[in-house]
Amino acid sequence: MEIIVGITGASGGPVAVKVIESLIEKGHEIGLIASENGRKVMKFETGRAPEDYGEKGVTIYENNDLSSNIASGTVPFEAVVIVPCSTSTLAKINCGIADNLITRVAAVAIKERRRLVLVPRETPLSPIALKNMKELAEIGAIILPPMMEFYTRPKTIDDMVSFTAGRILDSLGIEHDLYPEWRGGKD
Ligand SMILES: Cc1cc2nc3c(=O)[nH]c(=O)nc-3n(C[C@H](O)[C@H](O)[C@H](O)COP(=O)(O)O)c2cc1C
Repeated sequence: MEIIVGITGASGGPVAVKVIESLIEKGHEIGLIASENGRKVMKFETGRAPEDYGEKGVTIYENNDLSSNIASGTVPFEAVVIVPCSTSTLAKINCGIADNLITRVAAVAIKERRRLVLVPRETPLSPIALKNMKELAEIGAIILPPMMEFYTRPKTIDDMVSFTAGRILDSLGIEHDLYPEWRGGKD
């Protein structure tokens, strides 16, 4: 079953790329949707476009195509991951606004009780964004902001990106070797 990846206009293109490439590598079926600003920020931060993955077997959906099959709850998909998730899209999802395919698949995931993983990126976080994250977490969404960590002793930006991508795959129940397991500080 398809994992739907939504890319919105927050910073975090490299994390989206790492997640998509890891899912491809593991043979998962992927549907990709990017908002207009998601495309722009992704291009700026990574030089990539969603269509680049069309050649690798990923289904590319148009964000304005609300008649797409995945806009309907009758069509099963495994999960929705919005990475990165802008505070604007976060707010829309929490209000039940489904005005594009990304917000619509999130609404479908909520109503059909399917897995919804949001990777919001903003700093500092406003009380509005915090309220939206709290309310969505309370109805079962996984709120997984890209947080810096140092206990895996990252040496490169790619190490840090891989950690967040790995945590996203964890939230989908997918095995990976994107970051080393914590070994109790024994090495
Ligand atoms: C270069 C760039 C970086 C941005 N970074 C963020 C960000 O980190 N977080 C955020 O919430 N919005 C960010 N924005 C603003 C969003 O792109 C903007 O609110 C947009 O309307 C979001 O729409 P979307 O959710 O449909 O993509 C950024 C915009 C640009 C141009």
